[in-house]
Amino acid sequence: MKKITAKQLNEIKEWVRTQVSAKRYEHIQGVVRSATLLAARYGASVEKAQAAAWLHDCAKERSRSEMLSWIRKSPFKLDPDERAIPALWHPHAGAGMALNLWKIEDKDVLQAIRCHTLGTPEMSLLAQIVFVADFIERGRTFEGVQKMRLVAKRDLRSAVLLKCSMTIEYLFSKNMRVHARLLQTWNAFLAASGAK
Ligand SMILES: [Fe+2]
Ligand SMILES: [Fe+2]
Repeated sequence: MKKITAKQLNEIKEWVRTQVSAKRYEHIQGVVRSATLLAARYGASVEKAQAAAWLHDCAKERSRSEMLSWIRKSPFKLDPDERAIPALWHPHAGAGMALNLWKIEDKDVLQAIRCHTLGTPEMSLLAQIVFVADFIERGRTFEGVQKMRLVAKRDLRSAVLLKCSMTIEYLFSKNMRVHARLLQTWNAFLAASGAK
């Protein structure tokens, strides 16, 4: 498998800048910064964390039909509940772009992109890093983000749990649907933490 080089990361960064608004680019830069710090802290590959962070939202401003076309060209599938919620398409479309445009075949990087919103019970260390970095980057201002940043420094798996519970509570409070995979992620990480 090809290694992700500094040159390729730079090319990806410049390309991502052309794919999203200035505001989203700033968010993505924040996620790269947080993912870099978390990768160094928890012993993951910094290059892989940066590649996944740069690409995690690259498809977010594509039209629905473009997103579906990238997904169709990829081995990634939407489940019926994801298909019903277009906000859940961009992780899969982004992984499709990473694979088909950037020829990134690393399974951890692709999983980190695909799972950055809902998680998955089998999240690799890299996927956990991007899942958490997306939530704690410096541009985030929601109530509780400071606590979340402290938890992320102390224990990554607890931070995964906290992102799940905060997101689920938010969705409940807004009367919005909760995708089953987010609950599965919560249940799996909770069980692994020793809680009942
Ligand atoms: Fe996203
Ligand atoms: Fe994001």
